[in-house]
Amino acid sequence: MELSYRLNKIAQKVTKNGIIADIGTDHAYIPIFLYKNNKIKSGIACDISKGSLQKAKDNIKKYNLQDSIQTRLGNGLEKINLQDRVDTIIIAGMGGMLMIDILQNGKDITENAKELILQPQKDIDKVRKYLHNNNFKIIDDEMLKDDGKYYTIIKAIKGKEDVLYKNEEYIFGKFEIANKCKILKEYIEDQVYKMEIVLRNIKKTNVESRILEIEKNIKMYKEVLKCL
Ligand SMILES: C[S@@+](CC[C@H](N)C(=O)[O-])C[C@H]1O[C@@H](n2cnc3c(N)ncnc32)[C@H](O)[C@@H]1O
Repeated sequence: MELSYRLNKIAQKVTKNGIIADIGTDHAYIPIFLYKNNKIKSGIACDISKGSLQKAKDNIKKYNLQDSIQTRLGNGLEKINLQDRVDTIIIAGMGGMLMIDILQNGKDITENAKELILQPQKDIDKVRKYLHNNNFKIIDDEMLKDDGKYYTIIKAIKGKEDVLYKNEEYIFGKFEIANKCKILKEYIEDQVYKMEIVLRNIKKTNVESRILEIEKNIKMYKEVLKCL
């Protein structure tokens, strides 16, 4: 089975030989790939949508993995029990605020997992802040580009962060800035270019507060660019 570049990157972050729960699994490609490549002991593929879970079931059956990958229909982590002994929780391809809700509502499960692998589609800064405010430490953070779109994958474990993040590190990722990530550089250049166009247009309308906000953002983004 071939995974997309994004899904493959997510799969690579999973620590070997554990039990995983893939929340919002849709097609169940991640658990299937991990099991077929001997990376996990077993998996639980969960989804809130009957249609998505049916897709997962069909794919699991296609690869004859019904004994190793279970499916569960439910909201977030509600169908995961402590007895499942989940080591890794994967949540990918959904908004950051929904992800935070899922983590918050399933606190007993997240607190007993060894690691979280998260790929929020937006509100990534809020996810990083949530992790820090809830005693999780970010041990890996990577931005990538797949099929013309930017994605971020965060890996967190239980524990306190040694040094608190600066605002721009919450927004762009501390690892990405420290590693002078080329994709982040490209992303910020792209965003600055777009903001400068918006700024030029908005200046014609004289909405002072919006102009100041965009100018402040451009300044901050350009400051980060100097470090990349
Ligand atoms: C865009 S797909 C992402 C699929 C896969 N994780 C990926 O990254 O390619 C989002 C999936 O999350 C599921 N989903 C949305 N809200 C959910 C929730 N509260 N609990 C469980 N699954 C949810 C949707 O039904 C859908 O199958």
